[in-house]
Amino acid sequence: MKSPAFLAAAACAAALCAAPLEGQTRASRIADSVLALMTLEEKLGQLTQAPAGAPVSAADERLVREGKLGSFLGVYGVDAARRIQRVAVEESRLHIPLILGFDVIHGMRTIFPVPLGLAASFDSLAAVRAARIAAVEASAMGLHWTFAPMVDVARDARWGRIVEGAGEDPYLGSMFAAAYVRGFQGDSLASPTSVLATAKHFAAYGGAEAGRDYNVVSVSERDLWNLYLPPFQAAVRAGAGSFMASFNEINGVPSHANDWLLTNVLRDTWEFKGMVVSDWTGIWELLNHGIGDSLTAARRGLRAGVDMEMSSILYRNHLAAEVRAGRFPQAVIDTAVHRVLRTKAALGLFSDPYHGATVERERRDVLTPESRAAARDIAREAVVLLTNNSVGGAPALPLRRTLRSLAVIGPLANDSASPIGPWGGAGRKEDVVTVLAGLRRAFPSTSIGFARGVPTDTVHVEGAVRTDGIAEAEQLARTADAVLLVLGEHADMSGEASSRTFIGLPGAQLQLAQAVVHAARTSNFDKPVIAVLMNGRPLAVQWLADSASALVESWFLGVEHGNALADILVGDAAPSGKLPVTFPRVTGQVPMYYNHKNTGRPANEREKWNSKYIDAPWTPLFPFGHGLSYTTFSYANLKLSRDTIRGTDSVVVTVDLTNGGTRAGTEVAQLYLRDDAATVTRPVRELRGFRRVTLQPGETRTLRFTLRPGDLAMYDAAMRRVVEPGTFTVWAGGSSAANLAATFAVTGDVVVLTEPPPRFR
Ligand code: NOJ
Repeated sequence: MKSPAFLAAAACAAALCAAPLEGQTRASRIADSVLALMTLEEKLGQLTQAPAGAPVSAADERLVREGKLGSFLGVYGVDAARRIQRVAVEESRLHIPLILGFDVIHGMRTIFPVPLGLAASFDSLAAVRAARIAAVEASAMGLHWTFAPMVDVARDARWGRIVEGAGEDPYLGSMFAAAYVRGFQGDSLASPTSVLATAKHFAAYGGAEAGRDYNVVSVSERDLWNLYLPPFQAAVRAGAGSFMASFNEINGVPSHANDWLLTNVLRDTWEFKGMVVSDWTGIWELLNHGIGDSLTAARRGLRAGVDMEMSSILYRNHLAAEVRAGRFPQAVIDTAVHRVLRTKAALGLFSDPYHGATVERERRDVLTPESRAAARDIAREAVVLLTNNSVGGAPALPLRRTLRSLAVIGPLANDSASPIGPWGGAGRKEDVVTVLAGLRRAFPSTSIGFARGVPTDTVHVEGAVRTDGIAEAEQLARTADAVLLVLGEHADMSGEASSRTFIGLPGAQLQLAQAVVHAARTSNFDKPVIAVLMNGRPLAVQWLADSASALVESWFLGVEHGNALADILVGDAAPSGKLPVTFPRVTGQVPMYYNHKNTGRPANEREKWNSKYIDAPWTPLFPFGHGLSYTTFSYANLKLSRDTIRGTDSVVVTVDLTNGGTRAGTEVAQLYLRDDAATVTRPVRELRGFRRVTLQPGETRTLRFTLRPGDLAMYDAAMRRVVEPGTFTVWAGGSSAANLAATFAVTGDVVVLTEPPPRFR
């Protein structure tokens, strides 16, 4: 039998594969040579991706043999992946390799914090590191392609998929988008440890009306460019090899049929050279959107620029007959196939269809002690200390290691599935360190009692919410020296198709918390009651924030959840995370975000007729960027290099950051900007820089940020990107509520940085 490498090489016209061509050119020439040999049916096969498990079914295997499938979603594990790839490269007519994709979102087997949690680190290098390890593991398990990162900006905490992105801010989101792409794709796609990244969901999926997943999005052209598109553009600039279309419509046109979005913006304006994949049955769903029958859906999807169809098979079913009847251009199909082949070639699959995945690599590279150590480091950075009140004269956290007894209470404390969070890749709950296990390791000489209390969700027994475990929890709280409540959402309560109308603590958890706090305080007024949240979205937890001695946001931290959290609680590591999303006080406040417009009637308490509510404050529970440490940081001496500049100039901002406490700590220093007056309305402030800085007690460091014309720019009425003359205000501080400010003026003419993008249609 001929070797797979030999057969694959034959498929790409050996002379070309061997030629020392570079990058895209080489991949493109391989694609040219393969395309020239293909039948129409084989071409449509390359545009089709089927969902499958391991092992692949006999029916799918036959399709591969016949050249009618170019890709699978969900086939991983080196044996299964190599087995089906061998069929493609040894038994199909042209030996074209498959590209195997999967949702490797925040880790493959070593699970890292969910993306929203990772964004709380404000450490884009942590995202590079996590994505790199995920790519090493995924590729060792036979994968070539991940459907990540999700770079959708999300302002509505009801939307379950807020957990999959970097939160509400396009600037932070752009940094993380680029970081994930770099981590997944490494230095070269052809490297055996690289996987192709996918920027998704293009575009504005995070704007789902009422936070209900898959809902329509109503977005202005200006908001699209200001808010939703920047992270996608950052992903293109970082070299993302693929994009995924979004389920929603934009301006009345579903993304899967939106040639303005997929061609005019993505390819013509941003010069994206990779391939576009549909979302799951996204082409078929065009029927439900109401654009016509399945033939129309296939025609419009491919014409708009969706190259590969995930899960549905409308391209394969309809387009060959259309081409033969002269009703659909062959060239449109060829262009899409070329992109798919080019991508496969860029991954090196025509030279090594297995992409270096071997049984030895899978054994060696997956869930190593090093990757677990990285997961623990990164998870620590994701933890956000929301409050830390004084108990008996000292801050409630960190806890004393000499505690005699600790009551650990709550439905998530001993849950080994939830720390994995939604989109757990190939993560296994047996690899997870629970909160309880982490605490037992960190406090070896403390007597730790555990009571679950109530379930996470609303479970009704004979019509009532189940509360029968509360009495046991109260008893434990009364007798222990300190109490730790672990509350929130289980993993399935956020993620895809997991929108909620109420973002308070689900089920009877608030009742549990109230009973436990009462029991603890009645037994000893100074007993610390620490509340830890585990969740995939902002939660409206006003009572807990007001009543717990300290409140800690831990998101879903992955396999090292319990260890990383315990490191923070015991003070081996100081918390340094900051919120990448605003936390509202009540659900009715959402969508809520820091970079809002001022309105004609900004809220104030003095009188009635302004933009607020009559039954709740207009302010958030915790603002974007908020997060405490075990020390205190202060900002002073905010200075600008110049008071007046032209629109083509830059301004250097300096500010002194001091650690005024007695412990070392890391602060995420943030820089915000406002264009005070402009021809179109501008947000009250926008993040324009941030830096993680570690300082020793008493240490001061002068931080320097540069504001360039691009940072001052905005889209004017004609959608040109311009810097307008006028004053700008700069704030530096530890959150979006920073109040240390300075101003400068831009003088001279309007500076046009870019002409209008292709206009919305
Ligand atoms: C649907 C989701 O919207 C998308 O993010 C994911 O990549 C696909 N399913 C494949 O699992």
